[in-house]
Amino acid sequence: MNPYEFVETHRDAFLDELKEFLRIPSISTLSEHKPDIRRAADWLRQHFEQIGLTRTEIIESAGNPFVYAEWLGAGPDAPTVLVYGHYDVQPADDPDGQWKTDPFEPVVKDGSLYARGATDDKGQTFTQMKAVHGLLAAGQMPVNIKFIIEGEEESGSDHIHGFVRENPDLLKTDAVIVSDTSILSLDQPSIVTGLRGMTYLEIEVQGPDHDLHSGMYGGVVQNPAQALVHILAAMHDDQGHILVPGFYDRVRVLSDAERTELAKVPFSLERLKDETGLDTPWGEPEYQMHERLGIRPTLEINGLVSGWTGEGAKTVLPAKALAKVSCRLVPDQDPKEIESLVRQYVTSITPPAITSTVRRLHDGMWAVVDPDSPYMRAAVRAYEFGFGAPPVFMREGGSIPIVGTFQKVLDAPVILMGFGLPDDNLHAPNEKFSLECFYRGMKTAIKFYQEVGAL
Ligand code: BES
Ligand code: ZN
Repeated sequence: MNPYEFVETHRDAFLDELKEFLRIPSISTLSEHKPDIRRAADWLRQHFEQIGLTRTEIIESAGNPFVYAEWLGAGPDAPTVLVYGHYDVQPADDPDGQWKTDPFEPVVKDGSLYARGATDDKGQTFTQMKAVHGLLAAGQMPVNIKFIIEGEEESGSDHIHGFVRENPDLLKTDAVIVSDTSILSLDQPSIVTGLRGMTYLEIEVQGPDHDLHSGMYGGVVQNPAQALVHILAAMHDDQGHILVPGFYDRVRVLSDAERTELAKVPFSLERLKDETGLDTPWGEPEYQMHERLGIRPTLEINGLVSGWTGEGAKTVLPAKALAKVSCRLVPDQDPKEIESLVRQYVTSITPPAITSTVRRLHDGMWAVVDPDSPYMRAAVRAYEFGFGAPPVFMREGGSIPIVGTFQKVLDAPVILMGFGLPDDNLHAPNEKFSLECFYRGMKTAIKFYQEVGAL
């Protein structure tokens, strides 16, 4: 049986295994899920062993453990590929009842598997694992393979950078594969050539030393919620330009030729409407939507808390207010420099009666990958084979912080071999993974390893 026949005849069994993996609520941002993080790592390690990888390990870190697995049976003269993925998932809290099914009880509906982590990133990591399973089962694995799967990507990838820097020999590879992005559609596959970086901050403002009656003190005590809103409102002008001094200084200006190339994959109003329900876009008017997502930085408020938000009214003058703010960064911005610029700006616009504190939660570099490496050309041929159409290149607005570190430390090309779809609802209610993407993804990945073996 060849690898393609193997994965095709085992579709149902694979789906059951993936469901088992998805039932583990391995949410890295919530500490009460630590035991689930461990269970997901154990499940993975065991599965690697089951599908024939010869060395499988849980590697402890100061944060969540890594799962490492390898099969080096192709021999020292064959190329080596390192696959990266993450087994942690986003929270699936559901205050407004937006999930139509239980996020941790996977269900197949209309050709898609619904669960938290279905596409991001358990389903996509699993797709790579099962492609390798098919090749090993068929006795036709043409390359050496290593997997490094982490458990804190969704909370900032704090510990993997150090691990990669300290273990370049263990992770030594000719190319890195990451399946944690999306394609444009089933008919139009795409390969991501750029990801944005990030600086994630928390801004807290404090006024009086405890909450006060708003009638007894309103008018003489400055309201911290009001002060925070004032600070946040000063972050953008009416057109969406960021007002933090120096914020854009290092943003690389693309040539007309580069802009023309990127314009081949525009972001349409129709897509905006389909995916968000909105017909009015927002943002820097001098850039097209695909540019605002791909090559322009942003500053977003991700959360805002202060005062009374429970049922009914409470006339309180809150002592504190807090905002979570993240900046998506592009070449050649530096995450630490952006943090310092935002800090200085917040300090300079904080009203005198208020104290403000800015804390960094995490940060990570942007990444741009080489569209011309032999490995990328192998990936292009593999998508053509798996999806029946040649892939287009595009920039992605999201972030995968480890990609830049892989490029630098391992000195190997990174291929962002995504199999998600734009409407997969990652980080949102009703996350899904199209079964067609799963099947075509396995076919694409198998073909990729065969192409790389023939390089
Ligand atoms: N899989 C995503 C990255 C991504 C986002 C790919 C959107 C394609 C489209 C990844 O798991 C993710 O969400 N990363 C975080 C990283 C952050 C916490 C540093 C992100 O982009 O918010
Ligand atoms: Zn992800």
